[in-house]
Amino acid sequence: MMKAAHRMESIPFSGIRKVFEEVNRRTAAGEDIIHLEIGRPDFDTPAHIKEAAKKALDEGKVHYSSNYGFPELREAIAQKLGKDNGLSYDSATEIIVTVGTNEAVFMAMMAFLNPGDEVLIPDPCWLHYFYCAQMAGAVPISVPVREENQFNPQIDEFRSRITPNTKMMVINTPNNPTGAVYSLEALEELAQFARETELFVLSDEIYEKMVYEGTRHFSIGGFPGMRERTITVNGFSKIYAMTGWRLGYAAADHELIKAMIRIHQYTTVCATSFAQWGAIGALEGPQSEAAMMVKEFDRRRKLVFTALQEMPGIEVVEPRGAFYIFPNIKALGKSAEELSSYLLDEAKIAVVPGTVLGEFGTDYIRISYANSYENLEKAMERMRTALMKLTG
Ligand SMILES: Cc1ncc(COP(=O)(O)O)c(C=O)c1O
Repeated sequence: MMKAAHRMESIPFSGIRKVFEEVNRRTAAGEDIIHLEIGRPDFDTPAHIKEAAKKALDEGKVHYSSNYGFPELREAIAQKLGKDNGLSYDSATEIIVTVGTNEAVFMAMMAFLNPGDEVLIPDPCWLHYFYCAQMAGAVPISVPVREENQFNPQIDEFRSRITPNTKMMVINTPNNPTGAVYSLEALEELAQFARETELFVLSDEIYEKMVYEGTRHFSIGGFPGMRERTITVNGFSKIYAMTGWRLGYAAADHELIKAMIRIHQYTTVCATSFAQWGAIGALEGPQSEAAMMVKEFDRRRKLVFTALQEMPGIEVVEPRGAFYIFPNIKALGKSAEELSSYLLDEAKIAVVPGTVLGEFGTDYIRISYANSYENLEKAMERMRTALMKLTG
């Protein structure tokens, strides 16, 4: 039989997608299942963004763009990074428009990791970091982030895992799956650590605008001594409800971009041209719909947090960002996988077992509140009834 490459041996099919496909199968068979497993805004892309892409199509913007992306989009991204993040990047040489933030992560790992290099990754996490690192031949190293610290990273956990092979550290704030937003102090410590140990820092800021109750997001790339080592990645999927458009970007010092652009050139070449014009519409147009979505996510966050706090056998930390909540289910006496299956069968709600989000996620389930308020109300009620049944 024809065999896949060795590098694929440790790369599983995505655990979240597995849940998603099982749920879709059941939905098609007539089951009324509420989706709480997928990180996809339930809103439509705002109309002015669609119009900008339609106009681009009508104007014949259907050919390759520069490998870096259209200059107009890069300029809009540079402006945004300056205004929102305190990051100063040259739109001509320091920004690459990518096919989703996913591609930006992959590109950074492929460009900077040698076989055997180690990457420090806060765990639980969005597991793409693990598998992208492995596809580059590198070794992902789990660094636990713990509930007792509101899932903020602890510098000692990073320090104790450094070896001569450590090459990169990943930061994702606001965080998927914990909803943590890293504090300024935590980020300053991580920056200090990265400078001392000469690490690359991959900073995934895709949820930066989804922060609640006055919580602030900080971009580590703007801290002293971080420009030369940080790759900031971000995208349009979440905040503008554009997951299917597949648009993101990487911003970094020109020296770093020079390596990454070659991965991009030989894989995707450029992001879809007319979609890029939609992204320009997103950045330059009104931000009111994005703000409305964040407000609605906050309302849902409160609903789900309050409901979970009152459920038997559940401990829960209040999330401050993104659209996930990560309750501890250990007291229920079932594994995360067993509980997720039970909730799917009994309550008809789909959640992600923490086990598929890292070795330190085993006592948790991830609930995405990117679903309508009404569905969330229904889902929480169903979950409460199912857990009552379980706990007697
Ligand atoms: C932390 C994180 N980064 C990146 C992505 C992927 O973003 P994109 O759709 O831009 O590829 C996701 C999607 O779930 C995510 O949770």
